[in-house]
Amino acid sequence: MSEIQDRRPQPALNALVVGASQGIGLGFVKQLLADDRVGTVYGTYRRPASAQGLLALAEAHPNLIGLPVDVTDEDSIAAAIAQIQPRTAQLHRVVYCVGVLHDGDFQPEKSLRQITSENLVRSFQTNAVGAALVVKHLLPLLKHDQPSLFAAISAKVGSLGDNRLGGWYGYRASKAALNMLIKTAALEYARRSPQTTLALLHPGTTDTRLSEPFQRGVPPEKLFTVERTVAQLMAVMDGLTPADSGEFFNWDGKRLPW
Ligand SMILES: NC(=O)c1ccc[n+]([C@@H]2O[C@H](COP(=O)([O-])OP(=O)(O)OC[C@H]3O[C@@H](n4cnc5c(N)ncnc54)[C@H](OP(=O)(O)O)[C@@H]3O)[C@@H](O)[C@H]2O)c1
Repeated sequence: MSEIQDRRPQPALNALVVGASQGIGLGFVKQLLADDRVGTVYGTYRRPASAQGLLALAEAHPNLIGLPVDVTDEDSIAAAIAQIQPRTAQLHRVVYCVGVLHDGDFQPEKSLRQITSENLVRSFQTNAVGAALVVKHLLPLLKHDQPSLFAAISAKVGSLGDNRLGGWYGYRASKAALNMLIKTAALEYARRSPQTTLALLHPGTTDTRLSEPFQRGVPPEKLFTVERTVAQLMAVMDGLTPADSGEFFNWDGKRLPW
């Protein structure tokens, strides 16, 4: 007997990409726009000057809406969520792609001598605190009767168990803090919004502004294009269920050690 297929139209998936101005975040926006399952895509940017690609895409795609957000400013996160709520009652996919490793004089520390309080705080605010604030404000949009997913792009260098080389104090510690914040939020979400999965994803070394100064020693087959990374992470995200909530995954779907 042939299986009866449910041909009723499925509701469109609505997505939010935080940190969509360039790099992996902009790559997510492009692949979400090309995905037939996706309805509206929201993409946040910090300043128009570095978001020309995103803003041009939004001109061409009425279902892409750009929203200004600086994750170090909680009010701007709350304002963006308040702009989403009247248009879209439910979000199904959220990806936090914000991150900083270097910026001018701000460079990853090679030794303890280079640690400064200011630089540590900057890493923590951008890479960890921002994600926790986004998850705090998103609950009403992720809590509904369909499955929803929040994924934060973490990094394998944030794994305590995998740290054999040292260095990069602020980046490593901020990613470890990100992992703990999202793991803890996953436990709370499991009680308050059991259909939501929260996950941490390592993208693999990807050819973006962030990795550019550190690509010299990376063999070509281990340096992914943004398109490849996003396709791999989308496949991992598609396979996640609430039973996976609070876990840390590599780009190939394998679990990573904390
Ligand atoms: N590329 C890799 O090899 C690699 C490896 C492991 C993990 N990751 C992680 O992957 C994520 C994406 O990185 P990427 O490689 O795509 O780097 P990227 O091209 O430098 O993109 C970083 C994004 O973060 C945004 N951002 C930085 N500070 C912000 C703030 N205060 N408020 C809002 N947005 C802010 C940037 O916006 P602006 O345009 O305004 O600066 C940009 O959109 C990061 O979390 C990174 O740590 C990357």
